Order: sequence, then structure tokens, then C-alpha cells
Amino acid sequence: MSTTTTTMKWASLLAALLVASFTQTSMAVIVVCKMEAISGKILTGACIVGTNGAVISLVGPGAGRQLLINSTIFYTLDVNARSTLFECTTEDDILIIDSSQYSSQTLNNCDPPLLELRGCSNAILSNSTLTSITRSTAQPACTISKYGPCVAIVGAVSQVADWSFSSYDNTFTSTGCASIAETSGRLGGALALVRSASGGAMSALIKGSTFTSTMCDFGGAIHSENASLTLFSSTFTSTLSTNGGAVNFIAVPPTVVPTQKLLVDRSTFTSPTAVNTGGAIQVKGGVLTIKGSTFTNGAALIGQCVWVNFCQTYTESEIVGNTWTGCATPESPPISWCKAHDGNQWTTCGMEGPRYCY
Ligand SMILES: *[C@@H]1O[C@H](CO)[C@@H](O)[C@H](O)[C@H]1NC(C)=O
Ligand SMILES: *[C@@H]1O[C@H](CO)[C@@H](O)[C@H](O)[C@H]1NC(C)=O
Ligand SMILES: *[C@@H]1O[C@H](CO)[C@@H](O)[C@H](O)[C@H]1NC(C)=O
Repeated sequence: MSTTTTTMKWASLLAALLVASFTQTSMAVIVVCKMEAISGKILTGACIVGTNGAVISLVGPGAGRQLLINSTIFYTLDVNARSTLFECTTEDDILIIDSSQYSSQTLNNCDPPLLELRGCSNAILSNSTLTSITRSTAQPACTISKYGPCVAIVGAVSQVADWSFSSYDNTFTSTGCASIAETSGRLGGALALVRSASGGAMSALIKGSTFTSTMCDFGGAIHSENASLTLFSSTFTSTLSTNGGAVNFIAVPPTVVPTQKLLVDRSTFTSPTAVNTGGAIQVKGGVLTIKGSTFTNGAALIGQCVWVNFCQTYTESEIVGNTWTGCATPESPPISWCKAHDGNQWTTCGMEGPRYCY
């Protein structure tokens, strides 16, 4: 795609975002970055700031925190020459990481993830591929990163308005932690989504994205914490974790953070495994909708396909038109919730949770 086409595409997207946003206080700038670290080589990254902006190459490592000129977005390239932290200091500028490629990279357990976006409202990751990205099992004497080796989206106090993150058309293949253990506590074999210190509510949209053979301690593909999450037309295959083989969704009570919703729509989960709970998905809190999705051959100690921790999360009429094969045995004590309703095709039971809820 030519630079002109790209610029025009983002110019119209920016216009749409500006119309959509009623919290806009000043002129927002759109920053589009392309990152490449292919076959073990160190990262090259370049960003375009504004619709007519020049291409700015990322400098470092060792150069310290750098401001992307004409924006309020800073970046730091870690000493490992592969990991980049982007920090957005206002809610107005929009960061887009597009058409990026990372492949065959091994990070140690203390390195930050390859890409961390902190305090960036309404950021987008699109058209990118991450292949064969892992964390070594060696645990050097340093502080272990809280995240898997790929992408972390983390809120900051500067975000007072509600904000979002979107993943469009990304492909993660063979990414994650080299081994898994609850005690290591690392989040998301592909994506870690955490509201963290932000005041505004966080939501994430994962659309047209593919996760194959991804694994980490919590959330083999995605760990979402204190945020609303929508999975749309996305595919999860052979994902692995201790809890939430593909997706680990953690929500706090609505008295603490506005109700966090998990919506799974037209997505596919094939051969997901959790050592403990939620072969495909573990849902701890929040409210759940699953429609038009397919679950096949989940494995877990408890909750082979979907495991729901709390009664309030589950409404029967919100589980619609799904196909469940190779999940649990229907009505198997003490946890199965399955009965035929709302177009769900149950070869085996997909919804499980505490018996007393049902
Ligand atoms: C920054 O903005 C000024 C004024 O609009 C413009 O002339 C300049 O090219 C911009 N610089 C970059 C790197 O985009
Ligand atoms: C991804 O790339 C395709 C092909 O170039 C393009 O049609 C699509 O709009 C891009 N998606 C996004 C979100 O930019
Ligand atoms: C989620 O919210 C709870 C309650 O405010 C907080 O204790 C916890 O640290 C938050 N988790 C993350 C990852 O920010």
C-alpha cells in the first residue's frame, strides 16, 4: 500500500474518530507506526505523525524516553533493542500500530513485552503478524515481567474519560511463555489488556484476529482485567494456559468499576486447554454474552470449554446460537449448566459453573 493511500485512509479514520469523540478538547494528532523485528534481528520502527507528517525513525536503545515530535506520545526502546514502550500523555492523540511484523524473538522473563501501550486512549493494532515469539524459561535475578512477550495495553491515571483499544486483522502464531505456572503470573500469550490506574472505563475490541498455539500463565491468548472485551470474528486454535486456555476474563464488582462485559460473537475456539479452569474461556465476574460461536474439544480440570465463576455473570438468554462439541458431559455433576435453549447445538455441554447458580 502506498504512503499516500495509507495517509488518506488514516485521515478519514481520524475524521471519524473526531466526530465520534465528544471529550475532545484540543486538536488530536494521529500517529501511525510500523514496527519490524524479523527473524531475531533487532527492531526497526518508524512513525508518521499527522496526516502530512514526516517519517520519524525510532532511536535507541539507550537513547532514553523520546517524544514523537508534534504529538504528546513518548516512546522508549528497551536495552534489549526489541521492546518498545509507548506512553501517551493526553487522551487526544491516537496511536496506531499498523502492518507490523515481529518474528523469531526470544525475550527473557524480565524483559518488557515487545509492545506496550501505556495510557493510550483509542489505540489500534492492525494488520500485524507476530510469529514465534517466546519468553525463555530461565529466571535471572531480576523482576519478572507481568506480561507475555507480545503486547500489553495498560491504562494510566491520565485517562479520565472512557477509552478503548482495538485489534483488527492481527495474527499471532506460536507466541507466549515457554512454560506455564500459576506462580509465574504472566498475563496473555498474545495480548494483555489491563485497565490498571485509568479513571475511565476501558473496553477492547478484538476483530478478525487469529491466535494459534499461543500460551501463557493466565490467558493463553488474551488476559483481560477490569475491562469490557468484545471478541468478534476471531479464531483461537490450540491455545494453552493454567486458567482461561484462550481467554482469561477478570472483572471487579460494578461498584468498583462500571460493569465489565464479555461479548463473544461469531468466534471459533478449537482445542483450547487450561490446566485448571476454563479450557477456552474463564469468566471471573462481569456479565457474559456468547453468540454464534463454535467451541470444539476443550480441555481443563474444571470447565472444559467455558467456566463461569459467579452466578450473576450468567443469563441463559445471553448464550445464543452456539455449537459445542467435545466440551463436558451434559448434566455432569456438580457443575454442568447445559440444557437445550436459544439455538445452541449441544453435542456436549459448553457452559459450566457452580451448581448452586443453575
Ligand atoms: C510538525 O508540525 C509543523 C507545523 O505543522 C510541520 O511544519 C512539521 O513538518 C511537523 N513535523 C513533523 C515531523 O511532522
Ligand atoms: C489491513 O490491510 C488490508 C489490506 O491492505 C486493508 O484492506 C485493511 O483496511 C487494513 N485494515 C486496517 C484496520 O487498516
Ligand atoms: C482491578 O481492579 C481492582 C479493584 O480496583 C484492583 O485492585 C486491581 O489491581 C485491578 N487490576 C489491574 C490489573 O489493574
